[in-house]
Amino acid sequence: MSRQHREPVIFVVSNRLPVTVTRTDDNTYDVSSSSGGLVGALQGFAGSTEFRWYGWPGLEIPEQHRAMVEEKLATQKAYPIFFNKALEDKHYNGFSNKILWPLLHYQADQIHISKEDWTAYQEVNRAFAESIGSEAEDGDIIWIQDYHLLLMPQYLRQVFGDGKRIRIGFFLHTVFPSSDFFRILPVRKDLLESLLHCDLVGFHNQDYTHHFLDCCTKFLHLDTSGSQVIFQDRKVNLLTSPVGIDPSEFRKLLDRSDVKQRVQGLKEKYKGVQLIISVDRLDYIKGIPLRIEAMDAFLTKYPNYADKVVLLQVVIPSREDVKDYRGLHNQINQAVSRVNEKHGPVDMMPIHSLFSSVSKAELAALYAVSDVCIVSSIRDGFNMVSLEYVVCQREHHGVLLLSEFAGASEVLDESVSINPWDTDEFADAIQCALTMGREEKTARWESLNKRVEQFTSKRWGEAFLELLKNSDHGHTARHGV
Ligand code: F6P
Repeated sequence: MSRQHREPVIFVVSNRLPVTVTRTDDNTYDVSSSSGGLVGALQGFAGSTEFRWYGWPGLEIPEQHRAMVEEKLATQKAYPIFFNKALEDKHYNGFSNKILWPLLHYQADQIHISKEDWTAYQEVNRAFAESIGSEAEDGDIIWIQDYHLLLMPQYLRQVFGDGKRIRIGFFLHTVFPSSDFFRILPVRKDLLESLLHCDLVGFHNQDYTHHFLDCCTKFLHLDTSGSQVIFQDRKVNLLTSPVGIDPSEFRKLLDRSDVKQRVQGLKEKYKGVQLIISVDRLDYIKGIPLRIEAMDAFLTKYPNYADKVVLLQVVIPSREDVKDYRGLHNQINQAVSRVNEKHGPVDMMPIHSLFSSVSKAELAALYAVSDVCIVSSIRDGFNMVSLEYVVCQREHHGVLLLSEFAGASEVLDESVSINPWDTDEFADAIQCALTMGREEKTARWESLNKRVEQFTSKRWGEAFLELLKNSDHGHTARHGV
């Protein structure tokens, strides 16, 4: 279809689609909502901005069933890009999650370099670029999401050549590490150069943006000025823009009668104890063992709390095909048993651990009844749980303990900041949160809530797209601008 026949289209591309496809016993396909920070953020502005969402449907789909799946997904404005299982396994479990994920989060021991995975990563990125490139028309916008698709900008430009004026944006939902750490990656230059084929590249916080600029200077010897990099005589703009959530989604859930009933039930169940909540994907970056260690230290230092406080730990299964994730589950279970045996009266264990996905309605109820929420990440691009907890605390004004290593800490000043490795300080912070006076809690919550309400995912998405639309694509910059 040529440009005269249609309005410019916004293509959003992410490895994970907002819906995940699963095969049923009778060889048809079910579609269910995906979860995760990236999906939540993009859905938050889908209501106000029209876009087409491209991604991997979550499993290999045989040729003869693809049209059926495409039809099902089109009703949700989701467009699948199909891969065979072996290739997507090397791209997602391999290069993305055994190399890039630990690299971006400073976990050197978990990096397993493999040439085969790199080849698969290139192949998948090229296939994404070719598929979307063949549909995009002059004047369209392509917004790529996250570390699974870092090579896509460069491949897209190859597909377009000089023929089409298409604006390309990229947002990284993870940490971007310092140049000292990024230099570990043998293909560091390829990834940086690819991103510089964008018009606009976004990060969650100032440190990540500075680290990226620094890498461009150190590894590519490029001129940078303020938040711009000059690459092949073009200006590439960088943007620091922390993501948000859609607070109204949680407010609506809390107004539902079944959720109100669940809140009531939980209050009765935990009557007489103070409740601490934590919600994480099962991931080594989330600092779960350190949080358990801090609970141990807290109960050792303040033994009177043994039957007066419960840590309700929700751990959501994640990336189960990656070995380093499987071992962590056992490690957590053992640590929880140790602490419960040491401190718990038989009928009142201090740590309740749930290893399962939970619905948003259940999460809202759990957040609402908890006196404290702990986010103990050792590294985290942003961390949406911290925002979700705040918005669900409109009645009790509970306290947020937030790791200084989560991107969200840069904007949530009124949380209680913790260094998860400083076990003593962490234990004292738990005690401080449990004993904080109403006035201080309210003052902190009001300021946090104001921020969450103001900087929503809708605002985040719209602001990025606005800047991308106005970016000066193709403009030849003078060096040193
Ligand atoms: O933090 C980056 C991110 O892509 C989040 O947006 C998402 O919640 C998480 O990683 C998990 O991603 P996935 O389940 O697709 O591996």
